[in-house]
Amino acid sequence: MGNLHSNHDSRRRFIRLLAATPLLPQLDLPRSWLQAALQERELIGAPSEALNVFDFEPVAKKKLPPAHWGYLATGSDDDGTLRANREGMTRYQLRMRRLVDVSKIDMSVNIFGKTYPTPIVINPVGSNKAFHPEGEIAVARASRAKGNVQVLSTVATTSVEDASAARGDPVWFQLYHRQDWNQTLQMIRRAEHAGCPAIVFTVDLLGGSNRETLERYARVDSRDCSQCHSGGAPVPGRSGRVDDRDNRRKPALAEFVPGTPIPEVGTPTWEFVQRLRDSTKMKVLIKGIVTKEDAELAMRRGIDGVFVSNHGGRAEDSGRATIECVSEVVAGVRGRGVVIVDGGFRRGTDAFKALALGATAVGIGRPYVWGLASFGQQGVETVLDILHRELQTVMKQAGTTSIAKITNEYVIDRNARS
Ligand SMILES: Cc1cc2nc3c(=O)[nH]c(=O)nc-3n(C[C@H](O)[C@H](O)[C@H](O)COP(=O)(O)O)c2cc1C
Repeated sequence: MGNLHSNHDSRRRFIRLLAATPLLPQLDLPRSWLQAALQERELIGAPSEALNVFDFEPVAKKKLPPAHWGYLATGSDDDGTLRANREGMTRYQLRMRRLVDVSKIDMSVNIFGKTYPTPIVINPVGSNKAFHPEGEIAVARASRAKGNVQVLSTVATTSVEDASAARGDPVWFQLYHRQDWNQTLQMIRRAEHAGCPAIVFTVDLLGGSNRETLERYARVDSRDCSQCHSGGAPVPGRSGRVDDRDNRRKPALAEFVPGTPIPEVGTPTWEFVQRLRDSTKMKVLIKGIVTKEDAELAMRRGIDGVFVSNHGGRAEDSGRATIECVSEVVAGVRGRGVVIVDGGFRRGTDAFKALALGATAVGIGRPYVWGLASFGQQGVETVLDILHRELQTVMKQAGTTSIAKITNEYVIDRNARS
């Protein structure tokens, strides 16, 4: 590894020298090569070189096959919600307080009676082995090292049992329902059996989503995908959900025979949520809530918490940032459950804003996958460290010595300013 880094460093030094030489035009190098090389000199060669989580993104892009990169990067339609999630952060400014003793900062959060050392949640992302051979296991080990809640996807490439063993404590299980209730119930029972304290039912893809960025990257990927995807490359179609077509690498689904379920009538509604609630003693959360009305309905059905989420801008092109939904969802929940928000969280200050607006914790998707694709477990750990450190810094700067002290007095909504 040391050798690899020193090779990388000398190559970077060479390219830097080359770029600076006045003889460059006479060398007659292909433009594309030089451009790529110049860009490459910006890539970090080790997690320790990262200044922030964004530094992992171009490394992940370079390492991943185009279709897998496309799966990670895509939003829906024009990727407008994807951009909005980032831009929404700028709507809020921080009100800093001074001269508070910040020598001790407690960043722990209590969720469902358990204390976690950090409010950063590892959100469910499908098919982690498409990004790194160790996939969800590497993520689980990072979560074990850093103490974050980890939510495992239904379409994970690692079983709930193996991920929980690697984490040393059960993960939360994210649920995509099956048309057949008995199969859904089978997944719920399996999560219970694995000791999962919570299931997270994702409801923001029920109408399907149009992922054009994914399609475009998939079109330029000329590899033979049949080794991993039975029947050739998956065709995400308009929904991006490929689980029914190819279950081989998805342990939560592998036992189901595609095409034989007893179909439910229609798609899930609040009655389905009630059925889910009544089916288990695990905590039940709903992921994809963005309005006060739906938060209220969820609470009335006895739901334990919600994820304010638009699937990282991959659900619909509503153009609305999740951070802009936090206040109304918190108002709908009215203290009756936990509120976790995800979508575009890349900085400690982003997380601070959400906590100030009333969120219990903050979820991340792509950033830890950039870390995973770049450097495996160490990459994930560093991404988690960076976000934790940045949040700690802003907490100190604002004079908030615990998460509970980050109240709405520390945030201003630009749009609400008189
Ligand atoms: C590649 C990818 C796969 C995802 N897979 C799932 C999934 O299987 N289940 C789910 O509930 N959410 C899934 N999500 C959504 C994330 O849980 C989360 O809501 C989103 O990534 C947060 O936004 P961020 O990526 O900007 O941090 C996925 C997101 C990405 C980027």
